[in-house]
Amino acid sequence: MASGAFPRPSTAYRIADLAARDEEVLRIAEKRSADRQHAQGKLTARERVDLLVDPGSFLEFDRLARHRCADFDMDSHRPYGDGVVTGQATVDGRPICLFSQDFTVFGGSMGEVFGEKVLKVVDLATRIGCPLVGINDSGGARIQEGVVSLAYYAELGRRNVLASGVIPQISLVMGPCAGGAVYTPALTDFVVMVDGVAHMFVTGPEVVAAVTGEAVSPQELGGAEVNSEVSGNVHYRARDEEDALDWVRTLLGFLPANNLDGCPVYDSAGAPALTATDLALDTLIPDSPHQGYDMCRVIHAVVDDGDFLEVQKTFAPNIICGFGRVDGRTVGVVANQPLHLAGVIDIDASEKASRFVRFCDAFGIPLLTLVDVPGYLPGVGQERAGIIRRGAKLIYAYAEATVPKVTLAVRKAYGGGYAVMGSKHLGADVNLAWPTAEIAVMGADAAVTILHRRALRALDGPEREAARQRFVADYRKRFATPYAAADRGYVDRVIRPATTRIEISRALRMLRDKRQETPARKHGNIPL
Ligand code: HXC
Repeated sequence: MASGAFPRPSTAYRIADLAARDEEVLRIAEKRSADRQHAQGKLTARERVDLLVDPGSFLEFDRLARHRCADFDMDSHRPYGDGVVTGQATVDGRPICLFSQDFTVFGGSMGEVFGEKVLKVVDLATRIGCPLVGINDSGGARIQEGVVSLAYYAELGRRNVLASGVIPQISLVMGPCAGGAVYTPALTDFVVMVDGVAHMFVTGPEVVAAVTGEAVSPQELGGAEVNSEVSGNVHYRARDEEDALDWVRTLLGFLPANNLDGCPVYDSAGAPALTATDLALDTLIPDSPHQGYDMCRVIHAVVDDGDFLEVQKTFAPNIICGFGRVDGRTVGVVANQPLHLAGVIDIDASEKASRFVRFCDAFGIPLLTLVDVPGYLPGVGQERAGIIRRGAKLIYAYAEATVPKVTLAVRKAYGGGYAVMGSKHLGADVNLAWPTAEIAVMGADAAVTILHRRALRALDGPEREAARQRFVADYRKRFATPYAAADRGYVDRVIRPATTRIEISRALRMLRDKRQETPARKHGNIPL
């Protein structure tokens, strides 16, 4: 009887009903979203996903999830998806999990259902072992949902931490990212920000003005420029959203899916004989020790096709970090850059390189270190800001790393700089040096000033200068070479610069199956 009064909906009706729900999400809501986002020069959450992943590969989850909040009249508006698009897809045929916040729904803010959706993909990425990409464009914790929103941020942070070193985690910041919400991108391995539209700060300009009296715009406080050049929170400052997503696709191509997986291997085009680029290395080092040169030329000569993806390019440019391939296999390159501050290690350089080294080690990516370092940066500012504690991070990172480590001393390798930049003593497997390497406690001028102070003080005018020059020449000849280190086996091979690419390729091939165990422990205690 009941079935006559309320006929069971037909299968055709049910299929049409599903289509209507999908229509609401994918066309009607998406159109509303596009109108609002495009007016602000931004793409929609779905357009961003489309640009990131392989066409047709996106498998969306929880498209029809809706919030359960009744406060603030919220139950009158329950849009599908709850302000975040989540799912699984492929990039260049390799799986990723992703979420993309939709600023046009409750400001892309995190509520309970939003949080459940995000946690589901983070958990899935960790379980199946694939990279997680999070696209951020949000007003932060959903004010209407109160403490529940905060709980989900903390839950997400906990999962980011548990996934750290297990799967690569990449964040894109494409709109606002404020308050405690900044800490979820900050906990991930790489952060990409879009210039001009995105901003990221713990407290916004209004609170800053009220508390400290400082007047500052959102861009000045937390735009892509300041976060990539000054604070170091950001690894790539993108021109626009397409550029940001393109960079992430390229980055993913260098990385393994997880810590137990290998990096993708590409066909190698490495020439067996010396090329013109190789030969040019023979004349790269200027005869004057005070003259700089671009370390990128060495990197480009070594990596396949000169293809190098630099991370944090504009932060601490005195040290270069990035990914390339040798024989088609990913390497992480750390190199001093003599063109900036003579390649000295300061606090920022130490922290930048330490984090990079630890990422490579966590994901089994061999490390190639190119050295031209006059030492740690002297100065009251550096000492007071903690160069002892913060400079120690780099020693910790290198010493802890068990991946294949190949180091090449190009020119200066002085003092603490020598020790820390992938020295044999911190566990490098193969140490190479060019004949132009100067491996010593310090440079000739500084050494002579200390060692011969008394003798020089006893002389006057031209005699003093002539003696100083003699002492400097003598020191250079005896100590500013790779041979004292080679004498003791601290350098395995002194090589002609032109053979660098071939030597490094042989060393990395030899180390391909390296295994190194370390004592069991809960975790170390890196100086933070
Ligand atoms: C609910 C929000 C929201 C939020 C924005 N909206 N933020 N809804 N919760 N947190 C809504 C707005 O009400 C508005 O809805 C729509 O999103 C667009 O917001 P506008 O203010 O019109 O946009 P805009 O002028 O571009 O300003 C963007 C903004 C601003 C700078 C992000 O909205 C803002 O300051 N929001 C609050 C940011 C904040 O303080 N969040 C809490 C951070 S603390 P309508 O319906 O009008 O379109 C945090 C704790 C994390 O996140 C804890 C970690 C442990």
